Amino acid sequence: MSAHKDQNRGSFSSKFAVIAATAGSAVGLGNIWRFPYLAGENGGGAFLLVYLLCVVIMGIPVMTSEFVIGRAAQRNAYGAFKKLQPKNHRWHYVGVLGIAAAFMILAFYTTVAGWTLEYFFQSVTGNLFKPDGDYATVFNEFSSGSVRPVIWFLVFMGLTGFVIVSGVENGIEKYSKILMPLLFVLLIVLAIRSVTFDGAGEGLKFLFKPDMSKISGYVFLKALGQAFFSLSIGMGTLITYGSYIKKEDNLATSAAWITLVDTMIAIIAGIAIFPALFAFGGSPSSGPGLVFAVLPEIFEQMPLGSVFAALFFILLSIAALTSTISILEVVVAYLVEELKMSRVRATLLAMISASMLGLLAALSFGPLSGFTVGGQNIFGMLDYVTSNIMLPIGGLCVVIFVGWVLKPSVRIRELTNNGKLGSRFYPVYIYIVRFVAPVAIALVLLYSLGFFI
Ligand code: PHE
Repeated sequence: MSAHKDQNRGSFSSKFAVIAATAGSAVGLGNIWRFPYLAGENGGGAFLLVYLLCVVIMGIPVMTSEFVIGRAAQRNAYGAFKKLQPKNHRWHYVGVLGIAAAFMILAFYTTVAGWTLEYFFQSVTGNLFKPDGDYATVFNEFSSGSVRPVIWFLVFMGLTGFVIVSGVENGIEKYSKILMPLLFVLLIVLAIRSVTFDGAGEGLKFLFKPDMSKISGYVFLKALGQAFFSLSIGMGTLITYGSYIKKEDNLATSAAWITLVDTMIAIIAGIAIFPALFAFGGSPSSGPGLVFAVLPEIFEQMPLGSVFAALFFILLSIAALTSTISILEVVVAYLVEELKMSRVRATLLAMISASMLGLLAALSFGPLSGFTVGGQNIFGMLDYVTSNIMLPIGGLCVVIFVGWVLKPSVRIRELTNNGKLGSRFYPVYIYIVRFVAPVAIALVLLYSLGFFI
């Protein structure tokens, strides 16, 4: 991402850079860790089907709309609403909601990113494979500790802050153009190994054969939350990134490409996890530890397994890093542009405050596991509230704003690049943004609040 180092706004250097940086934000633990564990808990194929619906009907319109707001305003999420809204409106509170969501997501996301560092470390030191080891138990023992999860959490938070302060984001983007395709290739290798296990067919059936009786309002809520989480939408990340997109780039097709890549990676992660899981007799509904229990099992059954494992976990950590950078950037861009803080101070302030919340998340499986609300520990609550409530509300406000509040001339200008792109799809887009997407998001949210039961 080409974040500006000072008040001069940078911009992405090419169309590819836009897609690479936004895909860097979108692709991460959401695809490889969160998607499989949610699909596992919520009916496999049924979840995938509903997820795809959410991505197309709500995800792409919200993403395009965030880009429209960001590029039109050339500001951070909060400032963008302030600049574009009519007098006396208060849409900038959507920016505030996004900043709050950024803090909360950073807290639990960094915890999981820390777990990937631990698994990388274990692979490099040759301790990943445990003869007769039950990898679910290994994961539980590790994550319930009070030292290692915290250390790795702090290391990862430090890395994120270092990247933002030192302004090496451009460097990271450059490397990730090579590294992320490599992660993709490795994921495909894993998927191939996974589907060739005896008994793998059951796993494929689980993922691709929807059992319609599993579809419920609750599954819709989870799928919607996952779609928004995975696409990095609903909290202003892509408003902030949109503000760095050049005038010549096509916002709608960029959004469609990023969504396609993001969704494909989640599905391939599913193909890597479920066949192996069923072949080894694990349970699909084992929660956030799912992939950490299954992946070592696959690597163990591969030639050069620990080399592949080390490579995979480090690449996954880098994928997580390009996502945490984009989350922290929401807060930092706000502090720098609205409160006129220096970039270094803003980063430190955001990092330290997010770390306090994050420590609670990192300790939620161990010393703080007794703190629960409705059966959820602190980590689970942060995850639930952000993805299933805050992001959908944010996304709902974004489409309503672009569909009904923003000046039509601004909307048309951004979507057609001042008429250069033609406006054939514009009526379809505007219909979806005004009616389809808001109604669909509102229905899912109302359901979750207990309506229609
Ligand atoms: N989309 C990222 C992932 O899937 C996580 C993320 C969520 C990033 C929200 C930015 C904003 O890993």
